[in-house]
Amino acid sequence: MKEDLKSVDYGLEKIFDGAQDFLPLLGTDYVEFYVGNAKQAAHFYKTAFGFQSFAYSGLETGQKDRVSYVLKQDKIRLVLTSPLNSESPINDHIVKHGDGVKVVALWVEDAHSAFEETTKRGAKPFMEPKVEKDEHGEVVRSGIYTYGETVHMFVERKNYNGQFLPGFRQWDSDYNPEPTGLKYIDHMVGNVGWGEMNTWVKWYEEVMGFVNFLTFDDKQITTEYSALMSKVMSNGNGRIKFPINEPAEGIKKSQIEEYLDFYEGPGVQHLAVATDDIVDTVAALKARGVEFLPPPPQAYYDDIPRRLGTHMDKMKEDLKRLQELSILVDADEEGYLLQIFTKPLQDRPTLFVEIIQRMGAKGFGAGNFKALFESIEREQALRGTL
Ligand code: FE2
Repeated sequence: MKEDLKSVDYGLEKIFDGAQDFLPLLGTDYVEFYVGNAKQAAHFYKTAFGFQSFAYSGLETGQKDRVSYVLKQDKIRLVLTSPLNSESPINDHIVKHGDGVKVVALWVEDAHSAFEETTKRGAKPFMEPKVEKDEHGEVVRSGIYTYGETVHMFVERKNYNGQFLPGFRQWDSDYNPEPTGLKYIDHMVGNVGWGEMNTWVKWYEEVMGFVNFLTFDDKQITTEYSALMSKVMSNGNGRIKFPINEPAEGIKKSQIEEYLDFYEGPGVQHLAVATDDIVDTVAALKARGVEFLPPPPQAYYDDIPRRLGTHMDKMKEDLKRLQELSILVDADEEGYLLQIFTKPLQDRPTLFVEIIQRMGAKGFGAGNFKALFESIEREQALRGTL
């Protein structure tokens, strides 16, 4: 697998030069989940993942039909939103998909131009540019649909110095569990339907000006039973990375197909969040009850020195400790990376979280795909969905 990756050649600067700059993106602004009970979900993300209370919007702020809790940890902002009555269209989303990611919001200089440039290239509008104001200034937001019912909002906040967005107030809580070292969103992965990966790759290229900088075919991402294909899309400055997965034929059901069945369509499969110290972070998450995929077999850890080659000498972490915590290790030309995946975060086997620490490596853990997917398949077998 490493050999396959080598042929990709991470000439990132060169690749990113080819990206279009009609849509300059400054970073991820926030990720909004539509959930059945935002109050309880907020408690879970605070307690289990160490997010901090940040902002709130609801009846007390004049918002009559929905409530939103904003949580923050370093650069990551999660918004958890629930409807307050049966009329709200948010209900339809939750009925169909269960709890899941509705909005991947991107921070832009100019939300008017972001909307114009993407819709003129074929994006389906979600929200026309809208100026929202309060005593702290103004925010302009606009939005377009991506795969399924998922949305990209463009957020222009250069004339705003309030807590989050107009309509939100600061959320001070007496309950403030310690952070767990989560820093920023490294990448966000979308699952799309059979044969739709290239359609969405083209969409990100044409509509968003992204480039495809890594490709994994079904021969690379396969186990004895099932397979998938994946292409990683990146914006011009490399800050935003969206891998797109589609299921591939195997003897048994692909984990992507299981996702599509339970989410009832395409959607966000996982958020990968970066930490500088995965050992500390994962130990803290486990102590707080976050459930991770079961560990790969002993042979996986025995093989790590061989797979890492010269990177092994630079590895600061204790391999035994990594194994104790079931953390996975992979390497590419430029370094190594450490990663681990949670079990699904809600009852439907849909969204999960990846914790990742990059030590120079720019890949996505291709060397771990087999071990990881075998682990997912053991879970699928327990659910009777393999
Ligand atoms: Fe990932």
